[in-house]
Amino acid sequence: MSTMLQDYDHLLNIDPLSQYDILTTNPESHLNALGRCKESLNGRWHFTVDVYDTFLRKKFFEERVTDAQGRALPVDCDFDQWETVEVPSNWNCQKKEYWYFEGSGIYTRTFHYVPKAPDERVILHLGAANYGCRVWLNTRLIGRHTGGFTPFSVELTQHLKPNAGNRLILEVNNTRSVDQVPSLNYDWFNYGGVFRSVDLYRVPACYIRDSYIALAPNNRYDTLAVEITVDGAGSGIPVWLEIPELSLSVMLHTDAFGVAKSELTAKPQLWSPQNPKLYRVMVSTEGDRIEELVGFRQITTLGKKILLNGQEIFLKGVCCHEEIPERGRALTPADQRQVILQAKELGCNIMRLSHYPHDRNMALLADEMGMLLWEEIPVYWALCFENPTTQASAQNQMTELVMRDRNRASVVLWGVGNENPDTEARLDFMRALVDICKRLDPTRLTTAACLVDIDVMTVRDRLCQYIDVVAINEYYGWYYRDYTGLATILENTKLDRPLVISETGADALSGHHGMDEELFTEEHQAKMYQKQLELSEGSIQGFFPWILYDFRSPIRLNSYQQGFNRKGLISYDKTHRKLAHRVIQDYSCSVKN
Ligand code: GCU
Repeated sequence: MSTMLQDYDHLLNIDPLSQYDILTTNPESHLNALGRCKESLNGRWHFTVDVYDTFLRKKFFEERVTDAQGRALPVDCDFDQWETVEVPSNWNCQKKEYWYFEGSGIYTRTFHYVPKAPDERVILHLGAANYGCRVWLNTRLIGRHTGGFTPFSVELTQHLKPNAGNRLILEVNNTRSVDQVPSLNYDWFNYGGVFRSVDLYRVPACYIRDSYIALAPNNRYDTLAVEITVDGAGSGIPVWLEIPELSLSVMLHTDAFGVAKSELTAKPQLWSPQNPKLYRVMVSTEGDRIEELVGFRQITTLGKKILLNGQEIFLKGVCCHEEIPERGRALTPADQRQVILQAKELGCNIMRLSHYPHDRNMALLADEMGMLLWEEIPVYWALCFENPTTQASAQNQMTELVMRDRNRASVVLWGVGNENPDTEARLDFMRALVDICKRLDPTRLTTAACLVDIDVMTVRDRLCQYIDVVAINEYYGWYYRDYTGLATILENTKLDRPLVISETGADALSGHHGMDEELFTEEHQAKMYQKQLELSEGSIQGFFPWILYDFRSPIRLNSYQQGFNRKGLISYDKTHRKLAHRVIQDYSCSVKN
């Protein structure tokens, strides 16, 4: 390659990429109020995998390079000649060659922008992109986001070319790295790419960025707490809130930060899985208006009890990954509905959406269909708890998840982590996440899958005192063959708050039958659950089988597994119900609530 080129970066700079670690999005300033018109950018995008990060090294985002006389110079890429892939999708599922690809994928398309109003602002919103995503508009880097499962938005307004074609580029990188959340090692498949919707929102100069409404905390059933954030507004801006079915129509005013806060008297019907009652809520300002369906309910604890709307409830749960054969994590609304229907068929009243935020639409459907949810971020196993980048990423993801779903009645538990070593740094790390949940949303419970201390056979995790519901993952009958270990732990564990089993289970290859002590048979998996339910009876406030469906995991290399974790109660293709499915179904139907 000739050294005539002006730009010697790629010759001189060992790590030219860090210059692009700028413009990180602020998790509290994303456009969250999505109950308004949008223009979808989904569809075919030009795409390439970029194994050596050449797009960044060679600044291909500059598109056209000319010499001093303005003559075009050769550029090793031509966006519009690249192949196309579907957005949203995971690149792994778009082409066989991309199946195990971990690295950068470059997406690009153009769109013609015609302003509709003089002062309009244009916001780009992505449902998620795994893991890191940089956004370019018309050769300019305008935003960067990390975290593979939470939404983010970037304002395009000042960089848009009116009445002209505009080029958008998304550079997405799913390379695993030790300082990320999750870190290098985890028990699920690392699908990459833009796997949730990409939309444009046109909003006025002052727009409703976020609207938070819920029954006021501390068991108040006749008071609504409201907090509406108007971006670009100072104090005194009128904001109207209407809930016609409650004959509620009030005008509030923003404070100096553009936030209108208030407590309003109203007595809504209470949302519950049996009665998923939703209300139309409209919020408007002079130039803007959003609409949303919201349910109202209280979730609290009282000693060891969990109370939904003041009534004791037993959490009949199931865990679930976000995965669909052939399409990775890019589930359609129909896929999502099927997942909730199959959990309902199992007799569940709650789903643990593990181990990362699933699509926003899951919570909207759960609101509508009457399914409680446990949502969490992938603070999974060992992380670099002391590392500021890791801390920032986890706090970012927690904030984005809570801001995204805090209006969802179905969501009752925020999970701040899963099976993390009980170190000082970890405790500080996860306490900070609990604080974020409580600051942004005092109406829900926090939890974490804590560690069992097998030396003393008890739940002795310092995090327990900082979370509302203590959860344990335990596999007595599988990773430990002696079932009775569970009974010992439950006997030894003295807690002043609710305890749930957040995971238990055994691998069983669909259709593989044998003696009930033979591993990987359906009989053994069924027996495992019978034993678990017997031994935990009366000592817990919730039970979550690991897991609804078999799922892909590169760490499962046994000949029965072949790249799958086979602990599903239902096969990977969602068609075959294993023997244990009936065990859980009978049990869930026997628990009256
Ligand atoms: C762990 C972990 C899961 C994992 C499961 C298993 O507890 O939280 O992500 O898949 O055990 O071993 O199957």
